[in-house]
Amino acid sequence: MFRTNISRALFFVAGTVVFYSPLKAAEQAPAAVQVERGRQLFHKTFKSYSCATCHSIEGTGTAVGPNLKTLGSVVGPRGLYTTIMMSVTCYVQEYQLANGNTFRGIEKAKAGGTMEVWDLTKTPAELRKFRESEVTMKPNTTWKHPPTGMGLADQELADIVAYVKAVFTGTPKEVTVEELH
Ligand code: HEC
Repeated sequence: MFRTNISRALFFVAGTVVFYSPLKAAEQAPAAVQVERGRQLFHKTFKSYSCATCHSIEGTGTAVGPNLKTLGSVVGPRGLYTTIMMSVTCYVQEYQLANGNTFRGIEKAKAGGTMEVWDLTKTPAELRKFRESEVTMKPNTTWKHPPTGMGLADQELADIVAYVKAVFTGTPKEVTVEELH
C-alpha cells in the first residue's frame, strides 16, 4: 500500500513534469528567444562597431558610453529606441587642445586637475589624458551615435531593446516593432 502510494505520487509528479513543462517552456519561449537574439546582435559587428565596443553589459564590453542600467531599467521600449537612434547627444563634446587639435570625445573621469577622455574619432575609442587647463570644450555637432548608421532593421532594434531591458529589469519580455515608434 505504502509502496503503491509512493509510485502513484511519483507517477503524478512525473506526469506533471512531462505534461506541464513543455507548456510552460512554450509560453516563455518567445521572450527568451528574442532576448537571446538581442544578446547576439548587441555583440555583433556592424560597420566596424558592435554595441559592446562602447557599452559594458553582463560583465563584457567597454564602458565608453553611458552605463545602460539607468535607461534600461526605467525607460520603456520607445524611450530606449529613441535614445539609441538619437540625433542630438548630451555627453559627447568637441574637445580642443592647446595646440589647436580637436576631437569628439566623452569624459570618463576628472580628478586633481587631470581629465580622462575617450577619443571617439578612434575605432575602438582611445582613452586620452589631459590637464584640465589644456582643453576647452564645445557642444558636439558632428559625432553621430554609430547605431544611426549601422543599417539595423526595426526587428533587430526591438531584439536589442528586449535584451537590454531583460538584463536590467531581470525579466525577459517580448518587445514588438510597434512598441518602438
Ligand atoms: C563608438 C561608441 C558607441 C557605440 C558603437 C554605441 N554607442 Fe551607445 N552611446 C555612446 C555614447 C558616447 C553615448 C552618449 C551620447 C551622448 O552624448 O548623449 C551613447 C549613448 C547610448 C544610449 C543612451 C544612454 C543614456 O543614458 O543617455 C543608449 C541606450 C545606447 N547608447 C545604446 C547603444 C546600443 C544599443 C548600441 C548598439 C546598437 C550602441 N549604443 C552603440 C557610444 C556608443
